[in-house]
Amino acid sequence: MASLFATIVFVLLFIFLSFSSHGEAAPTYSSHYCDNITSFMPNSTYRANIRTLLSSLSSHTNSSTNGFYNTTAGRDPDLVYGTFLCRGDVSADLCRKCVEIASNDIARRCVTEKLGVIWYDECTLRYSDQNIFSIIREVPGIDISSSKSIQGDKDGFNQLLSSVMNSLMNRVAYDDQSGKRFATGEANFTRLQTLYSLVQCTPDLTDALCFRCLQSAIASIPMCCDGKQGGRVLLPSCNIRYDTSPFYRLNGTAAVVLPSPSPPNSTTQGKRKTSSPIIIAIVAPVVTSLVLLALGLLVLRKKARNKYNAVKVDSARSTRGNYVMDKK
Ligand SMILES: *[C@@H]1O[C@H](CO)[C@@H](O)[C@H](O)[C@H]1NC(C)=O
Ligand SMILES: *[C@@H]1O[C@H](CO)[C@@H](O)[C@H](O)[C@H]1NC(C)=O
Ligand SMILES: *[C@@H]1O[C@H](CO)[C@@H](O)[C@H](O)[C@H]1NC(C)=O
Ligand SMILES: *[C@@H]1O[C@H](CO)[C@@H](O)[C@H](O)[C@H]1NC(C)=O
Ligand SMILES: *[C@@H]1O[C@H](CO)[C@@H](O)[C@H](O)[C@H]1NC(C)=O
Ligand SMILES: *[C@@H]1O[C@H](CO)[C@@H](O)[C@H](O)[C@H]1NC(C)=O
Ligand SMILES: *[C@@H]1O[C@H](CO)[C@@H](O)[C@H](O)[C@H]1NC(C)=O
Repeated sequence: MASLFATIVFVLLFIFLSFSSHGEAAPTYSSHYCDNITSFMPNSTYRANIRTLLSSLSSHTNSSTNGFYNTTAGRDPDLVYGTFLCRGDVSADLCRKCVEIASNDIARRCVTEKLGVIWYDECTLRYSDQNIFSIIREVPGIDISSSKSIQGDKDGFNQLLSSVMNSLMNRVAYDDQSGKRFATGEANFTRLQTLYSLVQCTPDLTDALCFRCLQSAIASIPMCCDGKQGGRVLLPSCNIRYDTSPFYRLNGTAAVVLPSPSPPNSTTQGKRKTSSPIIIAIVAPVVTSLVLLALGLLVLRKKARNKYNAVKVDSARSTRGNYVMDKK
């Protein structure tokens, strides 16, 4: 019995350590796009300007307002415009890390293209030979959907998602108190499933342009992600994401909590008293079950992660822009 106990403690410790190592924040690559229509020689002035721009973006993460920064490098005709945008809830440190990694990454991925966009979970970085400041860009766009389907009432889920997205969109476009043009919200789908949603525009857009961009992103959900547990629509000027597991930092005050359209009626009864012999009899199996459950969760979590990484990039959007859809 003692050795069993020791084993359980050891296993629990191991699980705890594995979970906490997952907590280490590292920027996660999502997608990128290099416009290969307008290309240049790899040794050109434009190329040099891109390098200058990228290092300027990386070194100005402190000077960003609301996680957004815009700058240019070079002179006409080789002028490059660039911006970065960090997700509204990431720390300054993670924002800096993300912009640094994303700028190195895009330099490696887009070698001869005049226009590049890279989306990480925590930041978006882009550059162009055209002015992109305070201008709405809805292409290129990338849709990503989870491979897992919704458990339960699909129509109910779609309704809930639609109402949550619309509410967040209106809030970010027309009632943006923070200046970040960023909002998240949680809604109860079923007693066991919560819907987590996020919308964000670049803060340089006007109310109307932000609204238009988000509307366009939300309109893509049925095409990319119908019936799926998670989905993202990534556009240069705005992005949206939803999932049944949390993917942003939960913050009671920051979150918009929306009422579920049909609140599930609780069937849980009051707590029942249990006498002590029974408690002792249950403790061992319960601990063992918890260990097994935790192990199961760990495996599922790994699987889910892999599944989500093996993203499906929908082709529906390809009609909106001529671009390459790379996975990695
Ligand atoms: C760039 O390289 C090409 C050949 O790769 C060469 O023809 C061209 O002169 C080079 N341009 C500059 C500005 O060095
Ligand atoms: C940015 O932040 C770092 C560390 O917080 C600091 O050392 C550096 O001087 C800051 N840069 C600017 C331009 O404020
Ligand atoms: C950033 O964009 C604004 C217009 O939205 C522009 O006035 C400003 O000069 C830009 N900043 C830089 C450093 O280019
Ligand atoms: C989270 O909430 C606290 C107050 O509870 C607030 O000070 C903080 O700015 C919030 N963080 C974000 C990212 O919204
Ligand atoms: C969602 O469910 C939790 C727990 O059942 C409850 O505390 C919370 O108020 C519910 N939220 C909404 C928006 O109904
Ligand atoms: C839940 O059930 C109780 C009794 O079964 C009922 O009085 C109550 O109105 C129900 N609540 C909802 C939200 O359906
Ligand atoms: C541009 O992308 C297309 C595929 O989308 C590819 O066939 C073509 O080779 C690319 N052109 C260049 C110059 O990389």
